[in-house]
Amino acid sequence: MRDGTVMVTGGAGYIGSHAVLALLDAGWKVVVIDNLVTGFDWAVDKRASLVVANIEDDAKVRAAIREHKVFAIMHFAGSVVVPESVTDPLKYYRNNTAASRALIESAVAEGVKHFIFSSTAATYGIPEVVPVREDSPKLPINPYGMSKLMTEIMLKDVAAAHPINYCALRYFNVAGADPQGRSGQSTAGATHLIKVAVEAATGKRDSVAVFGTDFATPDGTGVRDYIHVTDLAAAHVDALDLLIADPGKNHTMNAGYGRGFSVLEVLDAVDRVTNMTINRKLEGRRAGDPDALVADNAAILAALPWRPKNDDLDQIVRDALAWERKLAERGAGR
Ligand SMILES: NC(=O)c1ccc[n+]([C@@H]2O[C@H](COP(=O)([O-])OP(=O)(O)OC[C@H]3O[C@@H](n4cnc5c(N)ncnc54)[C@H](O)[C@@H]3O)[C@@H](O)[C@H]2O)c1
Repeated sequence: MRDGTVMVTGGAGYIGSHAVLALLDAGWKVVVIDNLVTGFDWAVDKRASLVVANIEDDAKVRAAIREHKVFAIMHFAGSVVVPESVTDPLKYYRNNTAASRALIESAVAEGVKHFIFSSTAATYGIPEVVPVREDSPKLPINPYGMSKLMTEIMLKDVAAAHPINYCALRYFNVAGADPQGRSGQSTAGATHLIKVAVEAATGKRDSVAVFGTDFATPDGTGVRDYIHVTDLAAAHVDALDLLIADPGKNHTMNAGYGRGFSVLEVLDAVDRVTNMTINRKLEGRRAGDPDALVADNAAILAALPWRPKNDDLDQIVRDALAWERKLAERGAGR
């Protein structure tokens, strides 16, 4: 057992529940704060404590930090649906930016030493150069990306003023599920391609929409960098060690594999893995979708001992499919 407790906000959600597993497997104690707005209490590993609360509730958050002697926070809680952020921007500035501000304030007030933040490739907007480096211009094209960029900026200023250091990880497209079948993406109405495709494979949907076939890519469909959620979770555990090793230093790093697959390549993988032909519905582009979004991951590879272990598209699809089948057995979309 490592000596200390990590608070995981959003630990009942998709990525957070995998981070909880990775932390527990690495010997850390974990307390989860989640208001279960999109997460599920059953998704939190029983070895962790769960406090059902909004991260804005400073009394509850501060009490949990004190009670569990939390020395580090991994902050996954937030609202994550990009198109919804366009129609309801204030929800995103509230639940991502303002709620993060409240959480950071609680962390500083209680003397938490390290903070790891779920940022996103959406902070780049439409990058001019791909693979995209961390120092590329940050020009988000939707309130979701902006709400996350604003949190990065807060963290930078707070770490300069208070004894806390931080690591912002800018995730690319997160997919897959725990290879041991302990967690996966359970979100109702998810919009992520691989999740949607495995839902189609298990009969939950009739077809998968392909948004745009005229992008400047080899097959005309959008190219994205898909990272296995278990690799992403492992990167957080290594990032925590990095923050502990040098408390004077902060980090902002892309979390991706540095190579992209087109929508059609992903759907081919799903067909291959399922031995089915998933029905594809070709539709127009969605506003603001870049041609290609692929990480330059030199920084994370240089800073962390972390190396991807599940960097295989078919493996990502297989794990996502296995979890989807478990959810189907559970019923009620869970
Ligand atoms: N999924 C991706 O591809 C991706 C890409 C980039 C960044 N991210 C970021 O990763 C994080 C996790 O995303 P996810 O895909 O696991 O989403 P998710 O919806 O599965 O998880 C979010 C969790 O946070 C909880 N939550 C939301 N608002 C809360 C609040 N105010 N107080 C307490 N709990 C709250 C939800 O109940 C849920 O359990 C998010 O911050 C998201 O922006 C995700």
